[in-house]
Amino acid sequence: MKKPCFAIVLVLMFLSSHAQQSGELIQHIYGRKNVSLNGRWNYIVDPYETGYYDYRRQPFDQSTSGSGGYFDDRRQVDKAELIEYDFDLSPTLKVPGDWNSQAENLSLYEGTVWYRKKFDFDRNAGSRYLLYFGASNYETHVYLNGKKLGIHKGGFTPFQFDVTDKLLAGSNSLVVKVDNTRKPDEIPTVNTDWWNYGGITRDVMIAELPATYIDDYKLQLSKSMPGVIEGFIQLSDSTAGKEVSVLVPEASISRNYRVDPTGRIVFSFPVKKLTQWSPENPKLYDVTIVSASDTVHDRIGFRTITTKGQDILLNGKSIFLRGISIHDENPLIPGRLRGQGDMRMMLQWAKDLNCNYVRLAHYPHSEEMIRLADEMGLLVWAEVPVYWTISWQNPSTYANADKQLTDLIRRDQNRASVIVWSVGNETPLSEPRHVFMGKLVDHARLLDNSRLVAAALEVHRKDKMVIVDDPLGEKIDLVSFNEYAGWYWGKPDEIMENGFSIKYDKPVVITEFGGDALGGFHADKGTRWSEEYQEELYKIQLQWLPKMAGLRGMTPWILTDFRSPRRHHPVYQNFWNRKGLITETGKRKKAFLVLQSFYDAMERKYK
Ligand code: GCU
Repeated sequence: MKKPCFAIVLVLMFLSSHAQQSGELIQHIYGRKNVSLNGRWNYIVDPYETGYYDYRRQPFDQSTSGSGGYFDDRRQVDKAELIEYDFDLSPTLKVPGDWNSQAENLSLYEGTVWYRKKFDFDRNAGSRYLLYFGASNYETHVYLNGKKLGIHKGGFTPFQFDVTDKLLAGSNSLVVKVDNTRKPDEIPTVNTDWWNYGGITRDVMIAELPATYIDDYKLQLSKSMPGVIEGFIQLSDSTAGKEVSVLVPEASISRNYRVDPTGRIVFSFPVKKLTQWSPENPKLYDVTIVSASDTVHDRIGFRTITTKGQDILLNGKSIFLRGISIHDENPLIPGRLRGQGDMRMMLQWAKDLNCNYVRLAHYPHSEEMIRLADEMGLLVWAEVPVYWTISWQNPSTYANADKQLTDLIRRDQNRASVIVWSVGNETPLSEPRHVFMGKLVDHARLLDNSRLVAAALEVHRKDKMVIVDDPLGEKIDLVSFNEYAGWYWGKPDEIMENGFSIKYDKPVVITEFGGDALGGFHADKGTRWSEEYQEELYKIQLQWLPKMAGLRGMTPWILTDFRSPRRHHPVYQNFWNRKGLITETGKRKKAFLVLQSFYDAMERKYK
């Protein structure tokens, strides 16, 4: 076995720990000229990370200047060298797609899987190339043609690498190490009530760009100035000329600007005739951003979302958020949502429930899901997985959470459907937690002042009162919390004996309530796990909650049954959380109709 000398290993470890982080995210990757790398990739399951560490547990890995990991398709200089892997002869996984649902032996696997994609590429002189991943769970190391590009942490946000000087004309080899092992200091931490789907779970593509390109832009109706569009354009640099334009022909908008030396222009302009986006009329405009060397087309809806006392105002009109919570999972073929067909199915089920709003829990869903919500007319609560018992005092944990929030906001800042950035869910009270989440709230507002900021707050109970006095409530726009009256505490027929004590004069949007029912299990309404018990629980919750003065919305938990390693009952659960209103076979449970008729009534009330 080769024994690299210790000094070299130390240098390599330092270099690799500083491997290039993924760059700032380009806006609207789907609107660029891009080549998809989706399809079947060879893979090697590597539970002992043999491809990354030598037998003395020293990483083979080198920085961007050196070779990649061991499994990196390096040209074998010494034919005698012992080679104990072969991607060409290895099986394949579909990308995008979690590995758990593609191979029986990977269903509960937590560890490293190496992926390899060979592809031919035609380069154009003068172009720049970005390698873009929609998401990969959880820690991802990327190597192109034996050179390390960098590392990304976080399972639900996009990342990219500039590969202009590493992409070959002709044959290329892309090797990716993905490790979905849960760790206490990560975001999320080790304890979550969802399946830890690992792998490259969203699109992979290479975007071809001009030497100077439109890197980022934002156009949104101002929250504070009626009839004014605010935004910015950021070029990759200002070397190709400073003129830029914003064109929205259908709204008679044609604005020309000059960017500053850094390539940025911040603008605002009045609009006269504009149909505002709403769930009832999800109007999207064709928007074109033009620079001297680049043009980007997007479809953007314009609306305002504000609060006034205990009211939520969409385009200045009071609205009730008729919502439902959704995980990124197709219950029919358990696994991450695989494409637009899956996503449209989930969102259509929400619309069948007469929803105008969805809580995309507990982590960023795909850009395609958000663009579909724009198109189908569903408002969105978007969330980062600051979930339960986070390592509040670890600075790198905070940096990770902040990066995930920043990337989420940057990716979806032009999506009319998104009205709430949530900085977390059900996190135990402490001063470090308050500081951590308070900083996230402040940063969300700094990045985007056109939307609401919230979180699922902590609640406690005393003397038949549900008490909401979580100090984080001071900083956020909504009073949102999860309450499981009738399931985790009390019986359905005791729910009405309880009241609410809410410290804040803000709109109340219940982020979760509900109970488990095994689809098809029928009994009397007092029998837990039966559809009748869940139905009765919803009936009483929906009599009880409207008694709360400031109630302006809800997202009951949850649209469909979903998989969770925390759910063990051998008859009712079998690794499924059964709080869905729809079974994993797509059948509506009786409680579905209870919520649907409640929403019909709320729709009439707020017409
Ligand atoms: C919690 C949590 C959910 C979880 C749910 C449950 O409130 O936010 O992620 O699935 O309760 O216990 O079913």
